[in-house]
Amino acid sequence: MLDYAKRALALLARRPKGWNSLLFNTVMAKTRRVGPLMMPVHITIEPTNACNLRCPVCETGNGSMARPTGLLDFDRYCALIDQVAPTTAVLMFYFMGEPFLNKRAYEMIRYARQKGLYVETCTNGDFVDAKGIIYSDVNDISFQIGGMTQQTHEVYRVRGRLDRVVANLHGLIEERRACPQSNVKISVGFVVMKHNEHEVPEFLRWAKQIGVDRANVIDPCVRTVEEGKEMLPEDRRYWFYDEAAFAQGILKPKHLPDNECTWIWNSVTVNWDGSVVPCCRDPNGKHVLGNVFDTPLAEIWNGSAMREFRRRIVMEQGKVDICRLCSGYGVPQLMHPPPAGFEIKRLSLDESRLDIPMDGVPVTWRPATTDHSKTTS
Ligand SMILES: C[S@@+](CC[C@H](N)C(=O)[O-])C[C@H]1O[C@@H](n2cnc3c(N)ncnc32)[C@H](O)[C@@H]1O
Ligand code: SF4
Repeated sequence: MLDYAKRALALLARRPKGWNSLLFNTVMAKTRRVGPLMMPVHITIEPTNACNLRCPVCETGNGSMARPTGLLDFDRYCALIDQVAPTTAVLMFYFMGEPFLNKRAYEMIRYARQKGLYVETCTNGDFVDAKGIIYSDVNDISFQIGGMTQQTHEVYRVRGRLDRVVANLHGLIEERRACPQSNVKISVGFVVMKHNEHEVPEFLRWAKQIGVDRANVIDPCVRTVEEGKEMLPEDRRYWFYDEAAFAQGILKPKHLPDNECTWIWNSVTVNWDGSVVPCCRDPNGKHVLGNVFDTPLAEIWNGSAMREFRRRIVMEQGKVDICRLCSGYGVPQLMHPPPAGFEIKRLSLDESRLDIPMDGVPVTWRPATTDHSKTTS
């Protein structure tokens, strides 16, 4: 609660775009009212749900994606950005799939930037074009790797080539050096699993040395107990699942929200085909609430399907399938201070376990609170 109060005061002092919507909608969420809401300050848009990799937990990667595969259309995307630009502050330019397989991704990001949105994206790094990134003017890009050697990387990043990802990352760092007016913040992320947990200290040393702004150490998601047994690290500090329940064959997070979700009172997710789902916990489109290519987002946002979904969250969240493995994502960040040197960030849904083994890595320790950017759902 104190954290919320501090953030509210900071918003009131600085009043960034969307501050009033964020405060209003968060109060509505906290008081369990389903609407009418002000427009969302945060939007996730999926450039494509296709991917070159085969990560085994990801619906795209493991072939269980129930939606058709396709690419977001440029003109329809621009029309959507035009709709949301007056009220939306942050665009998360990825969902399922690899965003840069959409050849117009760089132009799409640039369009949103020109309309005044803060844009962040995330990539497996295999096909990112450094000049394209600088041209796009994206604010924040995270390269996500699966290990420090090709052998460990490809255990999860199946079909991935670590040398190619690292070359692309170096290329971007160089390109940014050559272009000092660029705003891009560069992160590198490491999803910690059983096969690579011993490499975390080496990852941190390497990330600091190559000149990125931030290293993200990411707690892993799994979908089933079987996957958990295979992939979850031995070091339980990387777990946000309930260990006692897991021992009895049940997969559930340590913290389950109690008929509350501030995230979907402030954010919405749009798939490549325009269909709208509540959040990234719905990769298969089980809860489609409208389509922005047919209906204005403002109508969908306060429409009957969306309100009914919110009603279920405040009345019977325990029965909502997509909430089963979610600990909640808090509220979106509206303020993004420029990097102050190299930082390490834990992307953990268990804030009581933000300590990780550092093995004397000489970096500034800066534990982060829960952040939506971003593990797979
Ligand atoms: C679905 S991916 C889409 C973006 C891009 N294709 C990528 O993989 O970076 C979104 C995020 O999920 C992360 N991710 C994938 N599998 C994960 C897992 N099992 N646990 C935690 N995060 C995971 C990725 O690293 C990425 O940050
Ligand atoms: S996690 Fe990302 S890279 Fe891996 S299969 Fe899914 S979309 Fe592709």
